[in-house]
Amino acid sequence: MSVLSTKDLSYYYFSDRMIFENLNMEFERGKVYVILGASGSGKTTLLSLLGGLDTPKGGQILFEGQDIAKMGLTRYRHDCVSFIFQNYNLIEYMTPFENVQLVDAHASPDILTQVGLTSDEAHRNVLKLSGGQQQRVAIARALASSAPVILADEPTGNLDEDTAHDVTALLVEKAKSMNKCVIIVSHSNEVAAMADVIICFSHGKIEIA
Ligand SMILES: Nc1ncnc2c1ncn2[C@@H]1O[C@H](COP(=O)(O)OP(=O)(O)O)[C@@H](O)[C@H]1O
Ligand SMILES: [Mg+2]
Repeated sequence: MSVLSTKDLSYYYFSDRMIFENLNMEFERGKVYVILGASGSGKTTLLSLLGGLDTPKGGQILFEGQDIAKMGLTRYRHDCVSFIFQNYNLIEYMTPFENVQLVDAHASPDILTQVGLTSDEAHRNVLKLSGGQQQRVAIARALASSAPVILADEPTGNLDEDTAHDVTALLVEKAKSMNKCVIIVSHSNEVAAMADVIICFSHGKIEIA
């Protein structure tokens, strides 16, 4: 059974211009989905609906078969999804370990060595880390959450190609070993190459490869 699905999902900012209409999608645990599409095609809009940050104009989002609007979006965001952003969105006056502890007070610092930080780096102010290292902290934070779904909007958009590859491979490997469902929005064909399912977004329609 899918962990997350959409049923006839529609959205517009202005009623005379649909962003997408009647989207039906299914997302499973243990799989990585990459959403590709031109700038402005509605990828971030879709991710914000899947994350319970906004409400659909039509249709539903189901978590394990239950309408997230009925469950309550606050509870849904807290228990069911975690986010990885292009600009990391770490708490900047804290260390990596403190950022992870905000999500799981009982987290072990090992989670940061598992994503490639040294123990010194795990206890350094996050602003003293490179972009790639900060994104590794954001990945650790998402993995530390018990939420089964990870949503990532252009997570490698600020990183050079080699770092982007390493960080994505890390996210894919760890998330799969923890049986999480990962949905990544990206421009990168290299990121798409690591997906189980590629979803192409264009003119409000989806094509699944
Ligand atoms: N808050 C908003 N108000 C009005 N239009 C918006 C808003 N956010 C996005 N849009 C428009 O909706 C379309 C889809 O945007 P977005 O989901 O951000 O696309 P993508 O992430 O694929 O680049 C674009 O045409 C964008 O200009
Ligand atoms: Mg976007």
